[in-house]
Amino acid sequence: MNRTENFRRKDISHFWHPYTDINSLERREFPVIEKAEGVYLIDTEGHRLLDGISSWWCVNLGHSHPDIVGAIRKQSGMLQSSITAGMSHTGVIKLSEKIAAIAPGNLSRVYYASDGACSVEAAMRISLQYWWNRGKPEKRKMISLSGGYHGDTLGCAGLGYIGRFHKSVEHVLNRSITAESPHCFHCRYHRKPEDCALECFTSMEKAITEHSRSTAAVIVEPVCQGAAGMRIYPPGYTARLRKLCDENDVLLILDEIAVGFGRTGKMFASELAGIVPDMMCIGKGLTGGSLPMSAVVTSEEIYDAFRSDSRMDRTFYHGHTFCGNPIAAAAACAAIDVYERDNVLGNVEMLSEMLSEAFSRYRSIPGVHGSTALGCMSALEISDESGGAGTALRITDTARRKGLFIRPLGSVLYLWPPLVTGKREMEKMLRIFEDALIKNLVQKQIQVHPL
Ligand SMILES: Cc1ncc(COP(=O)(O)O)c(C=O)c1O
Repeated sequence: MNRTENFRRKDISHFWHPYTDINSLERREFPVIEKAEGVYLIDTEGHRLLDGISSWWCVNLGHSHPDIVGAIRKQSGMLQSSITAGMSHTGVIKLSEKIAAIAPGNLSRVYYASDGACSVEAAMRISLQYWWNRGKPEKRKMISLSGGYHGDTLGCAGLGYIGRFHKSVEHVLNRSITAESPHCFHCRYHRKPEDCALECFTSMEKAITEHSRSTAAVIVEPVCQGAAGMRIYPPGYTARLRKLCDENDVLLILDEIAVGFGRTGKMFASELAGIVPDMMCIGKGLTGGSLPMSAVVTSEEIYDAFRSDSRMDRTFYHGHTFCGNPIAAAAACAAIDVYERDNVLGNVEMLSEMLSEAFSRYRSIPGVHGSTALGCMSALEISDESGGAGTALRITDTARRKGLFIRPLGSVLYLWPPLVTGKREMEKMLRIFEDALIKNLVQKQIQVHPL
């Protein structure tokens, strides 16, 4: 048994993988990654795999960025852990100042958590307690989008319910009120993004106006519903949502966990809509994907609603052991410096052009139902007639054998490369991606229906 097989055997003996079918995992020769650098994952055999999905959408600045590695190294020799309840440490103070400086508009107050789901939980609790502290406990419902995804804790699954993931726990979820998904791949109003009149917004309008007295907050993933299948939708939707929330005294939470930190071409997706939310959830790219850290960024107005007085204790009794962890804070400070210093958004502009050109071309490949691209996000859907999810999975296998790591979302295939991917590396990713599409969609058809 070679080294990799030995690792695989031990893996399937003890490790429980997330989002992984056990039987098919045990049959597959899955990669065992040992190290990574830049846009490459490197397995135990030394094979280099281009990381086409930024390792679950977080490694925005590439793997093992020297500045982030250096910051982690330095900080871990100084202070690894220090409670943040009732006291502070220098790392979290510096980071909070940096986040406040880059956050949109008046968002200047940072509450830390560890994973994305924990920051959504915190945002939910902040919004509920905000109204409770202000003497409106009846405002306790949440509104979200159908197909939205906000994490896998029971609270988050109630907000972003995806049947395929959450059906087995549906009976214990506190489900939000949902509005129609702005699903441009399958627009019910037969619009193209260029002539979109946001008819789908009517459903959100109805949800908010009917339930405003009992609703604490609306939460959406701005510009792109990621886990639903990379549903990129017009920023105008979020702009209208801001206005409607203001008119109805409902808070607006933007979940920027996946799209924040440059993914859309702007530092935060809310900038594309030209609005400022009441709360913004961030995670993933905050540390350049190096360590778990997330946060809710909000305004002083919301923070001030949590000041106790002699009549009422308004303290926010919510926290996690590792919130504001010094090593993660140092990694995040280093990452923010890199985003700013290295003109990462400039590189996204270059990648965006390449992805847009390629993905609009892929639309003409037989079996591709539609495609979409914005910033450093691009996706296409395999039609049902061409085998949908099964074919998408085969395409990812072909791509992996050629050196590109991607994962399908049902019948949707997407490329979310690190934001620092160079032109050559991007060309290589696109070449492998396109070859895999053609091999599985075009050449297969020719074999099945020989002329
Ligand atoms: C929009 C969005 N919100 C929340 C989450 C949950 O983040 P985490 O997996 O870090 O808990 C994700 C994860 O993919 C996400 O895409």
